[in-house]
Amino acid sequence: MLLPCTAFTLISLVLQRMSGRLSGQRSRTSLSLAGLMACLAALLVSTGVIYLYVDSLQGAAEQAGYPQTSCRPGHFKISNMKSCAAWLQCAQVRADVRPLKLIGQGAVKKVYLAEWSGQKVALCRLASQDYLEDFLHGLGMLQALQDTAVVQLVGLCAEDHSFVTEYHPHGSLLNLEGVFAQEQHQFHDTWQIRLRLALDYVSILHFLHNSPAGRRVMCDSNSLEKTLSQFLLTSDFRLVVNDLDALPKVDVGGGLLVKCGHQELTGDFVAPEQLWPFGNKPFSDDLMPGYDEKTDIWKVPDVTRFIMGGVRGGDLVHFHLFQVHNECKREEPKLRPSALDVLRVYRSVYSIMVRDALKSRDAL
Ligand SMILES: Nc1ncnc2c1ncn2[C@@H]1O[C@H](COP(=O)(O)OP(=O)(O)O)[C@@H](O)[C@H]1O
Ligand SMILES: [Mg+2]
Repeated sequence: MLLPCTAFTLISLVLQRMSGRLSGQRSRTSLSLAGLMACLAALLVSTGVIYLYVDSLQGAAEQAGYPQTSCRPGHFKISNMKSCAAWLQCAQVRADVRPLKLIGQGAVKKVYLAEWSGQKVALCRLASQDYLEDFLHGLGMLQALQDTAVVQLVGLCAEDHSFVTEYHPHGSLLNLEGVFAQEQHQFHDTWQIRLRLALDYVSILHFLHNSPAGRRVMCDSNSLEKTLSQFLLTSDFRLVVNDLDALPKVDVGGGLLVKCGHQELTGDFVAPEQLWPFGNKPFSDDLMPGYDEKTDIWKVPDVTRFIMGGVRGGDLVHFHLFQVHNECKREEPKLRPSALDVLRVYRSVYSIMVRDALKSRDAL
């Protein structure tokens, strides 16, 4: 980008020498001034271009699902806040966060739309003492895994069994069809936006499987609905993972496998290795073998199918994803691709399809 400036300087020097020979000192001064101005202009333009380039790289990285946190650890920035602030602590959560209405309830938490300092936030409170351990595990994970893939933590008060997160008015991914059905959002209902949501979902899995807190399995996902309810749909149609209450750690090298709960799992949404393998013999948690993060990969095609819905152009997306989805459904977990493998295929399908769509638009 500095090339134009160098070129201008060189040209100006050459012209200076020539003009010096031809017409003396005055024209030499005006030419060198012109050269200097041109150089400054070129510098300004190139700085602008560099800025735009870096900005576009950042945008592309975010689009591709690479995490970029904007605040230092222990800080947050929501809606129109100008700068990052430290997580609210007990005193502030108690005094300044005012619950307005219940907006969600799972087994572990009651979630309220709340108001803090003129902003809407979500206040999460333990719903039942039976799930205190899960609640604290989830809170610990939220603190450890703050990233653009994860809902922002705004404040916490572990001793009151409550914490505060960024509020996302569209709610969970379960609401996707309802949101797209609203008149003001119908123009967002395109295969591009839906496929990007699927990309976000797979890149969240990749993040959890390679997280700063180790390889984590998204366990609270025994049905499609349950799985969808753990992700939030942001106002700009991206996904963040919200519920981290059941994220056990796998260490295949160290022989550490996981089990998602202590009850028998059934149905074909869960991976085959999560099913009781000993036929008619009564279920026993002690005898049930453990498994790893490939259970999440098994579920990818079903979640993506939900995200794509019946959108125009969706058939072509399914066609392109057919092979990788078949691989996700391999009985043998080791033969399934990693989240990164899937993400790479999704990214290339996304860019190929966008390119083709542009080409056919240009051909019209
Ligand atoms: N920050 C938030 N913004 C908007 N809705 C939320 C938020 N957090 C939770 N919810 C709603 O509450 C529901 C339950 O939250 P979740 O954390 O999954 O609780 P549980 O651990 O009990 O399953 C979510 O599915 C979503 O609909
Ligand atoms: Mg939940």
